[in-house]
Amino acid sequence: MSALLELIEEARSAFAGAATPAQLEDAKARFLGKSGRVTELMKGLAALPVEEKKSRGAEINQAKQQIESLLSGRRTQLAEAELEAQLKAEALDVTLPGRARGPGGLHPVTRTIERIEAIFASMGFDVADGPEIESDWMNFTALNNPANHPARSMQDTFYVDLKDADGMPYCLRTHTSPMQVRYARAHAAQHAGAEDMPEIRVIAPGRTYRVDSDATHSPMFHQCEGLWIGEAVSFRDLKSVFTEFCKRFFETDQLELRFRPSYFPFTEPSAEIDIAFADGPLKGRWLEVAGSGQVHPTVVRNFGLDPEKYIGFAFGMGPDRLTMLRYGVNDLRQFFEGDLRFLAQFN
Ligand code: PHE
Repeated sequence: MSALLELIEEARSAFAGAATPAQLEDAKARFLGKSGRVTELMKGLAALPVEEKKSRGAEINQAKQQIESLLSGRRTQLAEAELEAQLKAEALDVTLPGRARGPGGLHPVTRTIERIEAIFASMGFDVADGPEIESDWMNFTALNNPANHPARSMQDTFYVDLKDADGMPYCLRTHTSPMQVRYARAHAAQHAGAEDMPEIRVIAPGRTYRVDSDATHSPMFHQCEGLWIGEAVSFRDLKSVFTEFCKRFFETDQLELRFRPSYFPFTEPSAEIDIAFADGPLKGRWLEVAGSGQVHPTVVRNFGLDPEKYIGFAFGMGPDRLTMLRYGVNDLRQFFEGDLRFLAQFN
């Protein structure tokens, strides 16, 4: 075999032995690079006589062309192999089962709140929503519970590092009662100067916060406020509205209500509302479901209304507790742990 043919064979096996594009470029340099074997041969031509130079030059050129085409053949091979490997690595198995989302559902407390809203809406109550970060004035002072009033200690409060124009801190609302104030003030302002103001009838469900945590208390919990203000709204109306609500909420007429004297700074007189079922697993036990009372004249004044003319009642109930009673759940914390094995049972 001539030396040129040998060189071509050497190049062929060097290129074939290159496993990566980088190795192939190395091999190329050894043959076609500046001081590669072919280049060296070309340089050697200079020393030859003219006639020989021509024919030898043509032979070397041919060999060079062959080596170049071997090189580009191997380049294509390597590129294809690389693409193949990449496609394999990124392959999708279209026969695998999909990751579909399971059917969702409403949280049991949300279901309760929707039930409460529907029942009160049917009795002519509006539904209002308001801020969870509340001013000291709205959460306490307007509700006849001024700074340093001992009744403030009834609610262990989360304060926020932010002060209002009076230098009083904002807090996470400890109850939904500030919504009484917000809603009634807006209502009063809207009808200011009018001869007759339509009655205020509203409920305000939402999240509330207190420094409290055990099986029946969570630092975040829900309340639903109710407020009915007019010129002749009495405790009798409270009793009939709340009795109707409980019967419809628990889907039974077999329950009794009891108004137990209590104290809230924003109502006078005040009462806890207890219910007792005549049947079922909770039969005969008095269960506390709400706080209530006739709205205190100072609060009516803070609504922007004349307490000599307007009177009414308010109540605040716990949708979490109502949910526990309705479904027979005994640990409140389960509602807020997000365990799907628990939550999925309500759907
Ligand atoms: N806001 C009271 C509480 O959280 C409940 C309540 C509301 C009592 C309205 C009376 C009237 O304890």
